[in-house]
Amino acid sequence: MTASVVVLISGRGSNLEALFLAEAASSFRIDAVFSNRQAAGLDYAHSRGRPATVIAPSRGEARERYDDRLRAAIDPFAPDFIVLAGFMRILSPAFVEHYAGRLVNIHPSLLPAYRGLDVHERILAANESRSGASVHVVTADLDAGPVLVQSVVPVTAGDTPESLSARVQRTEHKIYPAAVELLAAGRAQLNDATIVVDGKALTHPFRAVFDGTGGLTEWPDNLPRL
Ligand code: GRF
Repeated sequence: MTASVVVLISGRGSNLEALFLAEAASSFRIDAVFSNRQAAGLDYAHSRGRPATVIAPSRGEARERYDDRLRAAIDPFAPDFIVLAGFMRILSPAFVEHYAGRLVNIHPSLLPAYRGLDVHERILAANESRSGASVHVVTADLDAGPVLVQSVVPVTAGDTPESLSARVQRTEHKIYPAAVELLAAGRAQLNDATIVVDGKALTHPFRAVFDGTGGLTEWPDNLPRL
């Protein structure tokens, strides 16, 4: 069985591309892509022959109203999972509830640390020695749902927000397809409070560790590699 995935983006779509590149070896298929604005990732989806559509908010439109329109566009695809890949909007509780158990996001920090925006600036200002990315369940609270998979990278001397962001992002492209595969293969189930993997509550996220140049130093045993 192939799981149907809808991806929501707002920009470049490098995570979307990584998901597409992993698709052939995976249990999922990207059936549609939506963006809230014109985005390079839409062209890439088109180049792969998949429907890719802008659903732009109109001026002054209430969040709930926009989310209803987005939902009405997504639901005809009957997706098993909705994968947020750089989708730069906060989702209303009704939208999150509608897709409960099917909605994941990737955030460029080691959640629960550094939720929200300007993550890399704040990490550097705090002199952290490491950072990473987290694939997490989307709940009504921003960046607060349980975490399924994380990547860990060092923060290195001379890092700028841009260099740190680039290092973290390269690891996102490895862990996001792996996390979606866990879901698509039916090994992981999501709910608001816990994640169950292979029949057991996940007590710690899967953690893949990378070095300063993006080399992989540790990959969890039970995490698929696509
Ligand atoms: C990623 O870094 C992700 O962590 C954040 O948005 C960025 C999206 O980048 N949520 P891209 O559009 O996938 O290149």
